[in-house]
Amino acid sequence: MRHIKELVPLLKKGNIVAFCGAGLSSESSIPTFRGKGGLWEKYNPEVFATLGGLLSLFIFSPKKVRDFIVEFYDILLSGKPNYAHYGLAELERKNLLLGVITQNIDDFHSQAGSTEVAELHGNAYKFWCLKCKIVVKKNREEFEKFIENLKSKQSRKEIIREILNFMGKCPSCRKRMRPYIIFFGQSLPQDELKKGYSYLDKAQTLLCIGTSGVVYPAAYLPYYSRRRGAKIININPESTPLDDIADWVIRETAVNFFKIILPILNETFFRHRRIRLRRKV
Ligand code: APR
Repeated sequence: MRHIKELVPLLKKGNIVAFCGAGLSSESSIPTFRGKGGLWEKYNPEVFATLGGLLSLFIFSPKKVRDFIVEFYDILLSGKPNYAHYGLAELERKNLLLGVITQNIDDFHSQAGSTEVAELHGNAYKFWCLKCKIVVKKNREEFEKFIENLKSKQSRKEIIREILNFMGKCPSCRKRMRPYIIFFGQSLPQDELKKGYSYLDKAQTLLCIGTSGVVYPAAYLPYYSRRRGAKIININPESTPLDDIADWVIRETAVNFFKIILPILNETFFRHRRIRLRRKV
């Protein structure tokens, strides 16, 4: 491991892409999936993270699905983007970052102001039509109201109706919309994957932030980037398989990393701008 400040010359060159996972949002009070207190400790991912498992539970035990949805969205809605999400958005504004490829569905990148985002595993605020591929996004307030309503529903029929009504119908074919969340075993959304690869094809530096790097196919992307010659920086307080291909392993949290790196980049950014402005005068 080297000192974070040594990365500054590399980051200043730009053409950075970020590949992010749940660790990035853990400092937004969203526990990671596989960490202590994570969702998969309490809910069996073979049931709750697979479409088949969740659908049969929805038909036979909708109360269990309701409890899961309520717990998940209570956590999500109580969190907000942290310094690292804002840091990534700032790197994009400075034209240093080409885009973010995220496995997170919490929408924090967009909420922090990032515009170039490839959401490999979907977005918990979106629904889509599996036939037309139309994606519809609902806002925070709509979800807050939905969760409050859902908490009060007790009978099987009421719960099912509340959930189906909220998901709504496709504006084009009128088929039932589905949560835009990619479950285990489903293929990744092609447009998002294409977008992610288009960032990686131009990347000189890949920041892997807060991902265990064990969930495929998303975890192939850092290897692809490495083969194309990008420098890999792995930011994670724990060791992961991505350490093996990383040029730099930074044993820091995502927020700490940005708290060190951003002020230095800001200083050099504004110094160059001052010099450019003085030259123009
Ligand atoms: N900063 C950086 N990294 C952190 C932090 C932090 N503050 N806190 C935890 N981490 C690291 C952990 O050490 C771990 O390696 O974040 C990683 C989180 O790993 P996972 O929980 O496996 O999350 P992720 O890699 O995003 O999982 C991929 O699996 O469950 C599915 O679809 C879900 O998108 C998710 C996918």
